[in-house]
Amino acid sequence: MCGIVGYIGTKREAYPILIKGLKRLEYRGYDSSGVALINSDKSLSVYKAKGKVSELEAYCADKNIDGTVGIAHTRWATHGEPSSTNAHPHYSESKNLAIIHNGIIENYAEIKKNLIDKGLKFQSETDTEVLVQLIEYIQTKKDLDLLTAVQVALHQVIGAYAIAILDKRHPDTLIAARKQSPLVIGIGDGEFFVGSDASPIIEFTDQVVYLEDGNIAVMKLGEELKVVSILNEELSLNVKTVDMNLGEIEKGGYPHFMLKEIFEQPNCLINCMRGRINIDSDRVTLSAIIDNRDKLLLAKRIVIVACGTSWHAGLIGKQLLETFCRIPVEVEYASEFRYRNPVVTKDDVMIALSQSGETADTLAAIELAKENGAFIYGICNAIGSSIPRATHTGTYIHVGPEIGVASTKAFTGQVTVLTMLALTLADARGTIKHSDYVKVVKELTVIPEKIKEVLKVNEQVADLARTFTYAQNFLYLGRGYSFPVALEGALKLKEISYIHAEGYPAAEMKHGPIALIDSDMPVVVIATHNGMYEKVRSNIQEIKARNGRVIAIVSKGDTSIAKIADSVIELPDTLECLEPLLATIPLQLLAYHVAVCKGKDVDQPRNLAKSVTVE
Ligand code: F6R
Repeated sequence: MCGIVGYIGTKREAYPILIKGLKRLEYRGYDSSGVALINSDKSLSVYKAKGKVSELEAYCADKNIDGTVGIAHTRWATHGEPSSTNAHPHYSESKNLAIIHNGIIENYAEIKKNLIDKGLKFQSETDTEVLVQLIEYIQTKKDLDLLTAVQVALHQVIGAYAIAILDKRHPDTLIAARKQSPLVIGIGDGEFFVGSDASPIIEFTDQVVYLEDGNIAVMKLGEELKVVSILNEELSLNVKTVDMNLGEIEKGGYPHFMLKEIFEQPNCLINCMRGRINIDSDRVTLSAIIDNRDKLLLAKRIVIVACGTSWHAGLIGKQLLETFCRIPVEVEYASEFRYRNPVVTKDDVMIALSQSGETADTLAAIELAKENGAFIYGICNAIGSSIPRATHTGTYIHVGPEIGVASTKAFTGQVTVLTMLALTLADARGTIKHSDYVKVVKELTVIPEKIKEVLKVNEQVADLARTFTYAQNFLYLGRGYSFPVALEGALKLKEISYIHAEGYPAAEMKHGPIALIDSDMPVVVIATHNGMYEKVRSNIQEIKARNGRVIAIVSKGDTSIAKIADSVIELPDTLECLEPLLATIPLQLLAYHVAVCKGKDVDQPRNLAKSVTVE
């Protein structure tokens, strides 16, 4: 949510680095953007534009963009509408300072009122401008250097932030700080980079420091990186090598990141299972479980917390864990869990699911459960992000950076890890027959090949999408393991095509939603050959009896449903518990193609941002 990029050096121009970085970060927010540069004549220029980074580039075309020090930001509006005035960077009143900020300053209104009473004037409606004004006020009033003024100001601030700040009177220094909003510092040769994630940095250096909460980084030319606390204690540097390559964050010939990420899924799942499933012995080994065996085996209950697509993966995890391990599992929206005074004890294990590893609500749910003594297991994608660092143990899904705002490969990665986790726990608890364990493990290893086969329906789905672009509403139905898939299919469609869609358990239809069915209503039904097949087939007949238009996801060779449905998409056979990994793919493709047909911005749908670091 909002992207930060910064550069300080002597040999390279900052502007091209910042613009390229903003483009890499645009998935985090894209309603406006801006850049601040310390020009070679020592002036501090701020340029901002509403809309995408390309608008900013156009705006800067005739501006002075020279200089080797700068900061830039791409915004997802929280306080104040998207506009060039509210875009970051924000100047302080004297225009000596410029700041960029991710997060929310919760007590900004109170601070702003105090500053207005002292005669300061504000240009924007943002909490960010309040912060830079506060820093300058403290700096001037008490005659402090910038670092000390930042430290004093951050003491007064309640909320979350990742900031980077420049002072034109000290063009050799860039200061950055974090609390509950991620920030990475890249260390180059006599130069430093700042990013809200590593993607704008990796082209230049693989040496990074992930700032911890309360850390302030001081990047001064000619000196080593210094990290201090708000109380000015110098902290030791934990320099890491980032394991991400440029190819992973570029489109690689696909028109959109989302399509690339859908097609990457076979390889993603191979990477996710690598080193964890031994094909020769048909065994799954998750190191997180070996290291924390007792905690996990003695759990009386598992609580899964997540948001959005990750929550849907959690619903599938519940079925896997309950079926195989016979442990009661609850799946909670993190945003609800954190505020409803839930019962959590030291006998609980919490599983926190998150692609970005930065979702504010999920982090808060973790903290709450930790305070109550629960053991926390994270399942995340972004390496080194906040959630893996807040949990006791966990498993990365290793599907590579997900840039398309609509989550695709992270979902299948999460379901794969949850399957491996359920198998491992069930085996250790003795709640699964060895032959069943081996059957699921063997089938899991061929899922990537089967996904490749499913991806061949791409053209068929593209044709189908053209037929259905007229629709104002869609229903998605499924039962058992397919119900969360129906929810996920509906979420994908609404996110990127802006068509209203609902997912329902198929049998619930007659308790209400059936009233919606008419000849304009497309209904996507997951009707594969499993225990619920006949019942779902009856549901399809009920829809057809009311002239609804049925797109059925069926098992290969099914002729019975083909006779009654308007269109069928075939899937290879697999075990019922692994069907979500296949059935999700055509639904991702359907959402993608409908959005493309409607001319929507697939990778950057309106109002959304990739990583939701505010509650
Ligand atoms: C849907 C989507 C969101 C995220 C949700 C949780 O396509 O991307 O619903 O799934 O915001 O995000 P993470 O998994 O990063 O915690």
